[in-house]
Amino acid sequence: MLICRTERPGDGDDIDEVVYAAFERDDEADLVWALREQGAISLSQVAEYEGAIMGHLVMSPVLVNGEDIGWLGLAPVSVWPECQRQGVASAMIREALDSANELDWSGVVVLGEPDFYRRFGFRPASELGLECAYPDAGDAFMALALKQPAPRGLISYHPAFDNLT
Ligand SMILES: CC(C)(COP(=O)(O)OP(=O)(O)OC[C@H]1O[C@@H](n2cnc3c(N)ncnc32)[C@H](O)[C@@H]1OP(=O)(O)O)[C@@H](O)C(=O)NCCC(=O)NCCS
Repeated sequence: MLICRTERPGDGDDIDEVVYAAFERDDEADLVWALREQGAISLSQVAEYEGAIMGHLVMSPVLVNGEDIGWLGLAPVSVWPECQRQGVASAMIREALDSANELDWSGVVVLGEPDFYRRFGFRPASELGLECAYPDAGDAFMALALKQPAPRGLISYHPAFDNLT
């Protein structure tokens, strides 16, 4: 059975392996370490199957117009290549959004494939009047307001994301 649970102390190296394998490069795995070391992880969740970590996702605080008003950025989302297209990411994302709701966060943004994220309730952020500080994000920049009214304005990610190319 697939179990989605919060990251526990000691999971870091297994998470590192999954993130590296999913993206086939160091950058996203380094980002996860950087966010963890800088205390910038609001929610870190793993998907575990028979004791092995198959997937991982992180949510970190984003600023809206320079202010922390309880919005989160979902990234990166990683699934072990052999386990992709079996619903692992979907299970993790649904669980993480439930947790974000329960923990009283205000909303979540994501940069990703619109067809994939739409199914979880994300909409193009531009429809909510939210803009990404990274230029050229376009429709890949999606948002899900967990509380109303949703803010409008400029979203900036944690500085650790600036190292991603
Ligand atoms: C993107 C990723 C996290 C998806 O994980 P996954 O466990 O394979 O996703 P799921 O099995 O839950 O996918 C559910 C659905 O989304 C579709 N889907 C998965 N990845 C997709 C993508 N990149 N674009 C469009 N649709 C996608 C699947 O076909 C599936 O559709 P279906 O339910 O109609 O069959 C995984 O492929 C991955 O780790 N990729 C490499 C890293 C990456 O690009 N991460 C995302 C950016 S942060």
